Amino acid sequence: MSALLLYCSTDGQTKKIITQIANELRQHGYECDVRDLTSVQQSLNLDTYKKVLIGASIRYGHFNKALDKFITRHLVQLNNMPTAFFGVNLTARKEEKSTPETNSYIRKFLDKTPWKPVLTSVFAGALLYPRYKWIDRVMIQLIMKMTDGETDPTKEIEYTDWNKVSEFANKFTQIE
Ligand SMILES: Cc1cc2nc3c(=O)[nH]c(=O)nc-3n(C[C@H](O)[C@H](O)[C@H](O)COP(=O)(O)O)c2cc1C
Repeated sequence: MSALLLYCSTDGQTKKIITQIANELRQHGYECDVRDLTSVQQSLNLDTYKKVLIGASIRYGHFNKALDKFITRHLVQLNNMPTAFFGVNLTARKEEKSTPETNSYIRKFLDKTPWKPVLTSVFAGALLYPRYKWIDRVMIQLIMKMTDGETDPTKEIEYTDWNKVSEFANKFTQIE
């Protein structure tokens, strides 16, 4: 079984998650083609794959524009094959905002997009203060302060629940 796994990742967490999913799928006998959605050829032929998974992270309230562009270009094919989507953001670190229905970024995206992925999820990302540019560090500190999160600029915290990622990979093998 061949699967195309596309990611949009700025600081690497979504790439890390999709790489983990690919490793698990390979153990189930899948051949996985893992690619960066922002640099993939828009003319990519999806016919060569049996399933498609797209993962993307949120930055200042938005997914990378490449996501919508890819969906528009491949909409018919995407809606005619087993596909899955997951989003990554820091809001999902909170239990009550950790499902596609309760995470506003994912809910709004799924409400708006004409793409109908069979399987969806949301994973908490990583907070990497020391690696951010000054302005981003200050902005994220502000957001974290407003949402009762970590504000220590020396901290790097990975909130991703790897068991949840594994469960998602497992469910991906079952979609048809
Ligand atoms: C500049 C910046 C802006 C962000 N904006 C948001 C946001 O608006 N909402 C949110 O929940 N998380 C936000 N995050 C958290 C990211 O979604 C999280 O760090 C995720 O792990 C990033 O994944 P990536 O490394 O694959 O890009 C932001 C992070 C950065 C660095």
